[in-house]
Amino acid sequence: MQILVTGGAGYIGSHAVKLFLERGHDTWVYDSLIYGHRAAVPAGRLIVGDLNETHRIDQVLLEKRIDAVVHFAAFAAVGESVQQPAKYWQNNVVNTLNLLECLRRHNISRFVFSSTAATFGTPEQMPITEATPQRPINPYGVTKLTVEHALADYARAYNWGFAALRYFNASGAHPDGTIGEDHTPETHLIPLIIYAAMGKRPHIEIFGTDYPTPDGTCVRDYIHVCDLAEAHLLALEKLQPGQQMHYNLGIGRGYSVREVIAAVEEVTGKTVPIKEGPRRAGDPPVLVASSEKIQKELGWKPCYMDIKSIVASAWNWHRAHPKGYK
Ligand code: UFG
Repeated sequence: MQILVTGGAGYIGSHAVKLFLERGHDTWVYDSLIYGHRAAVPAGRLIVGDLNETHRIDQVLLEKRIDAVVHFAAFAAVGESVQQPAKYWQNNVVNTLNLLECLRRHNISRFVFSSTAATFGTPEQMPITEATPQRPINPYGVTKLTVEHALADYARAYNWGFAALRYFNASGAHPDGTIGEDHTPETHLIPLIIYAAMGKRPHIEIFGTDYPTPDGTCVRDYIHVCDLAEAHLLALEKLQPGQQMHYNLGIGRGYSVREVIAAVEEVTGKTVPIKEGPRRAGDPPVLVASSEKIQKELGWKPCYMDIKSIVASAWNWHRAHPKGYK
């Protein structure tokens, strides 16, 4: 396939691009580099451009004879989306709709969309299945759900085949150590704990110790970024015209913040300084995915099934790249 990956210089996108190329797909990255990293993309594969430059996207689709698009490019900070919703609606919704129109002009109807557990909000029943009602509680989740709805309409009316993949907590790094997680600012738990272990930060602050969970801290389903990449490729290869795929992606087991800290201490052999703080607004106590549907329907199976192996791959990256891609 000739694949265009928007946001392919970002954390999850770059892992997907590496996999697609390894599996023989002619893959091109379209990324603004606002948050992405040039060094995360193999030489000669990057086209620098913003999603709002539709004429450039048209040009790329034509020149590279693209037949499928994997759309990662989006803003993804939950807290920021509450403060600056316009930024999220503009990029995650308006720019995505413009991208969809470019694809329509070029008769491209195979699309994989990067969605999120945040489309579910705070469900009471765990694990979260594809039948769980989607009731997002922040603008980020709302914008992603809005695009899911648009895609369902496009599939029905224009015979598009699309997959909406809802990631739980993407984590880890490629085992070969060449690409990994490097966000500015960093807000995610595993890199922040590793920074505290390395002395790059004074401590890890635990956001809330009074949750109704076994040790009082939030429980999340951490899924390795390479397992996520595999799910995208499976979906791409199996999509049929008019088909709608919706899949939740996690390992089906949750780990508490304290358990993740313990895993980092074990893997790095370093003590992590801890500060217990108040809850972070909008954090549900527990989010765990059921990924049975994609396992059954596409034969997807995560390789990284425990937090220690995920943390070990992240540590491998951070240890070799203490300044990230810089
Ligand atoms: N946490 C801390 N201290 C920190 C950072 C995080 O205790 O310094 C806790 C959070 O409270 C949360 C857990 O660690 O309980 C994981 O937090 P992350 O910020 O790493 O991830 P989230 O679960 O908040 O967010 C992830 C994705 C979002 C997505 C969301 C869906 O990063 O893009 O899941 O719920 F929207």
